[in-house]
Formats: sequence, C-alpha cells, structure tokens
Amino acid sequence: MTYKSVKGTADILPSGLAGSSELYQAIEAISRNIFQRFNYREIRTPVIEERSLFVKAIGAETDIVTKEMFSFRDRGEREIVLRPEGTAPIVRAYLEANFHKQDAFQKFYYIGPMFRAERPQAGRMRQFHQIGAEAIGSMAPEIDAEIIVLMANLLDAMKIKGYKIRINNLGCKDDKAGLSKTLRGALAKEKSVLCDDCKKRLEINPLRVLDCKNESCRSVIRGAFKSVKFLCNKCDGHFKKVLGCLDSLGIKYELDPYIVRGLDYYTQTVFEVTHPELGSQDALGAGGRYDNLISDMGGPQLGAAGFALGVERILIVAAKQGATVYPDDKSVIYIAAMGQSAKEKAFELINSLRGIEWGKKASFDTDYEDKSLKAQMREADKLGAKFVLIIGDDEISKGEAVLRDMATKEQIAVKFSDIINALKGKLC
Ligand code: HAM
Repeated sequence: MTYKSVKGTADILPSGLAGSSELYQAIEAISRNIFQRFNYREIRTPVIEERSLFVKAIGAETDIVTKEMFSFRDRGEREIVLRPEGTAPIVRAYLEANFHKQDAFQKFYYIGPMFRAERPQAGRMRQFHQIGAEAIGSMAPEIDAEIIVLMANLLDAMKIKGYKIRINNLGCKDDKAGLSKTLRGALAKEKSVLCDDCKKRLEINPLRVLDCKNESCRSVIRGAFKSVKFLCNKCDGHFKKVLGCLDSLGIKYELDPYIVRGLDYYTQTVFEVTHPELGSQDALGAGGRYDNLISDMGGPQLGAAGFALGVERILIVAAKQGATVYPDDKSVIYIAAMGQSAKEKAFELINSLRGIEWGKKASFDTDYEDKSLKAQMREADKLGAKFVLIIGDDEISKGEAVLRDMATKEQIAVKFSDIINALKGKLC
C-alpha cells in the first residue's frame, strides 16, 4: 500500500516548480528582512491550542469556529485544535508572558502553517502558510497605517504587481452594535430575498450579510446600507487619520464599506488585499484593528492591529505573473572525482570547504555513486554549479585539482592546499 498526503495538504518539495521549498525560503527571507526594518520581532507559538481560545477570540458563530477547525480531545479530555490563524494565539502568548505588565507595546511577526477544514480548491488549502504581524499595545492611527504599509512593502519586495488594498472602518464596539441593530431592522423586511446563510446571519451577526457574495443579497444590502452613518466622532476621526497617513505615504487604497471580515474580534480599521489573478479565492491577505481582544481575553484594555498574508496565494500570483520571482544567488561548487583515492580526497575536501567562514550562501556537493566523469559533469550542470573541481589519479599524484569555471569553461590547475584561497572572493 502506498500513502498520499492528506486531502487539502501538500508536500513542499525542493526545486523549480511553483510552491517549491526554495520559493518558500525566498519569501520567508524577504519577509524577515522587511520585518527587521520595521522592527517587528519574531514570535513562534505552538500549532495546537485550546479550542476555547478561538471560540472566544474569533466568535462562536463564525464559519471558522463552527465548521473549519481540526479538533480532537487529548488524553486529558482537553479540547485541542490545530490553530486556524495566528492572532488569537499571539494575544494568548502576550498575556501569558506578561508583556502587558512590563513592556505593553510589542511588535511581533510570525511565519508558519495554519489549518482550516475548508473544501480544498485553487488557493484554498487545509494546511496553508501565513506571514503576519501584530502590533499590540497601541491605539494610535499610525499603527493601523504602519501595518498596511508593512503589508504593502512585503508584497512589493516579493515583486507582486497589481494587488488592490480595500479598507473599511467598523467602528468601536458600540458602533458595531448600533450598525448590527440598524441592519437587522432594515434587512428584516427583505429577509425572503436573502440567501439561506444570510437568513441565519441576520439573527446571529447581521454584519456578515454585508460581505455576502450572493448577488441578490448584495443588491438588498446596497439598497439598505446606502444612507447608514454609524461611526461615532472618535472612530470617524481615527479613520480619517489612518487614511491621512496612507495618503501621505502614497499608498493606494479603495474605501469599501462592505468589508466586515469573517472573524469577530475586529473593531475600527479592517482591510483586505486582493489580486485579480486569484479567481474566486482572491484575498492575498487581510487584517485590521482588534481593540477589545486583549481585554476580552482577560488582559487590560489595549489597542492592537495586525495582518496576515497567505503564502500559497502569493506563490500563485507570482507564478502567473511569470516572475522568476526570487533570484537564487547561491553558488554551488561540485567536486567530480574518479578513482578510490580521488573519492577519498573529494570527501575530505568537500567537508573542509563546507566549514569555511566566507561564502555563506555557497553549497558544496560531490558524487557518492561512482558515476562516470560525464555523468558527474551532468549532475554539476543540473545543480547549476558555478565551479567544478575535477580530481582523478593524475591529479592525486600531482597533489592538485582542476578548477573549472562553468560559465567561461576556463580550467586551471590548483594545488590542494590552495583551493580555498582560489575560491575566495568568487562565492556568494
Ligand atoms: P484571514 O483573512 O482569515 O485573516 O486569513 C488571512 C489570509 O490567509 C487570507 O487572505 C489568505 O491569503 C490566507 N488564507 C486563509 N485561509 C486560507 C486557506 N484555507 N488556504 C490558503 N490560504 C488561506 C486572519 O487569519 C487574521 N488572523 C489576520 C489578522 C492578523 N488580523 C489581524 N491580525
């Protein structure tokens, strides 16, 4: 019997293809560099958490909590889930480590797998990867703007072109409650035209009707929602400042009053970044403010904002845009050896090269299977080797190797003791 990866999950294999481990590494390296510039520090939380954490944070009636969490009972009868997102675990970790008592303002970033039992389709996986950031401990509108700028900087650095940022403001808890009440009243008359999901949403969380994709629900919403002004002065002022910051930085965005997001913790600013190349699952990423989550989870009243980008979706767009995306600037050095003593020398040499202090991006490899010289040179080519060191019986007797520059085809003899020196300055 052979085994296959579980439905909705994928192996991330080395080499070439979209979704390869090299692309994930490149995206992660680009991200870490940008996060460092913005002074966000890495946080790693476990992939398993208590189920109740997400029920509390995301909302008991949300799709994620009702339908999409992978959950199980551990031997102590605790209800455990695979994390469906990163924000709630990070707030949990923040409070557990008592950051709020020492150094309340913290900027975190994270890169890692998330799990949602959704129906798999292009761009929708059961195990996917997010790159995200959370700035916890500030109500400042500059933070909302910084989070959005940071997200845009990441996409730009990943050479993603043509994305669109759409922004809305849901207001504070009271504004959200007021809007829910207004919508419930306004939509009750039109209930018969709404889809089955929206009929339920009307009872549980009328805000979610706003972002229904169903055409008849959309037209009802457009009619009912036009004249609703629901933001209090404070929230209105906050939003104007956020947009002012984005304008001053030249960040392009669209205002979209229908963005509500599928997670209940949001207040104030919410945003999504979409891409037309993605089809129906068009969100590259999303985020917003969550000023009540820390207090709802037992901490003090602290503001916070964050976002997460989906790595698989970034790679879909990158592949469709035909980007060779992330140039691989590592140098490969291959040692081709023929004969027993040459093989022994190659093994010794390759391991001393692997220990050199410079050329940190270089890789060193050799043949382990007694292939012919021709086959070894083919292997070197396949690996994209910059240089090949060739050693045979002749070279062993002279105490040297032939150093071949694969680009210029130039070959020189180099004494074994001089090989490291000869390569110095030639490797990335
Ligand atoms: P989210 O909108 O649920 O937000 O997910 C963010 C991104 O993760 C999506 O835009 C998408 O790119 C990717 N994603 C979500 N589900 C899947 C899936 N099944 N397959 C592939 N990619 C997927 C959050 O998770 C919030 N925690 C974001 C946030 C951080 N808000 C504040 N801070």
